Amino acid sequence: MSNAVKRIGILTSGGDAPGMNAAVRAVVRTAIGQGIHCVGIRRGWNGLINSDFVRLDSSSVSHIINKGGTILYTARSEEFMTPEGRQRAVGTCKLLGLDGIVAIGGDGTFRGALELSRLGIPVVGIPATIDNDVGCTKYTIGFDTACNTCIECIDKLRDTMQSHERCSVVEVMGRRAGFLALYVGISVGATAVLIPERELNFEQDVVEKIRRARLAGNTHYMVVLAEGVGKGFYIGERIREAVGVDPRVTVLGHIQRGGAPTGRDRETASRMGYAAVMAMAQGRSNCIIGTDEGHLVEIEIEEALSMSKHLQMERYEVLEALTNTGD
Ligand code: F6P
Repeated sequence: MSNAVKRIGILTSGGDAPGMNAAVRAVVRTAIGQGIHCVGIRRGWNGLINSDFVRLDSSSVSHIINKGGTILYTARSEEFMTPEGRQRAVGTCKLLGLDGIVAIGGDGTFRGALELSRLGIPVVGIPATIDNDVGCTKYTIGFDTACNTCIECIDKLRDTMQSHERCSVVEVMGRRAGFLALYVGISVGATAVLIPERELNFEQDVVEKIRRARLAGNTHYMVVLAEGVGKGFYIGERIREAVGVDPRVTVLGHIQRGGAPTGRDRETASRMGYAAVMAMAQGRSNCIIGTDEGHLVEIEIEEALSMSKHLQMERYEVLEALTNTGD
């Protein structure tokens, strides 16, 4: 262990994701084991600007591994995007004697982390977002829980759609990415899934699929749409006009971000939290802890931010193959 690291700050930033608490717990407990003190920075980068912090010890993170949200609160900081804001953040780091920061969040958080590292503050990032849209890692904490939440909600919708022989249009989150929509669509046996990674041909991708399902004997249809494609209500209207059914539109919204993290999210968060502190304790920083085929890897932040991750289109082919004859 490097003796240089005596005290670190930990923060969560951007949209919360189930499993963030498990990561906070892992960071704190690992740090204590390495003789490092932990300071919780509250409300993301804003906390660093405004000296909004709390001391964390082992008991501060008891009984949070199973909790959604983040005990440290989170925010999207506009002020941190300015040089003045970042200088104030550096000032807080110096005041608190922080030898480094563990930042938990998505790409926005890591862009902030890169800027801070350029000002001489060592940072290690842990990817957590329900969107799974961080280029340098196969997996982000929170994705599995969000998928399961969507699946549970859509299974319930299916009961009522089946009873009324209706068409359901469900809009899920994902920002500009379709990872959540595609995974969920396959898992609920959707009639059609619309994702931003694939140019929409409404006739072929929606109308034709509903018609085919109808011909196969289906009387209810489930269309899952990623928010990055557009508004569910607009798609619902187009379906009404083109197919002559009376769709019900559900925007799952922020319910997708809540709830107890699944085993996968708790376990991944625990491993990433451990790895982040061990990296720092051993003198490595300015990196993101990612996953690659289940293994944890460290990717230098600037390189990490230049990486992009493509949705596996073979998943879309699976979806097509399984819904071609209706469900
Ligand atoms: O990045 C996570 C996410 O939930 C996106 O899927 C969504 O577009 C966005 O955050 C919503 O942000 P807010 O909570 O600020 O409305």
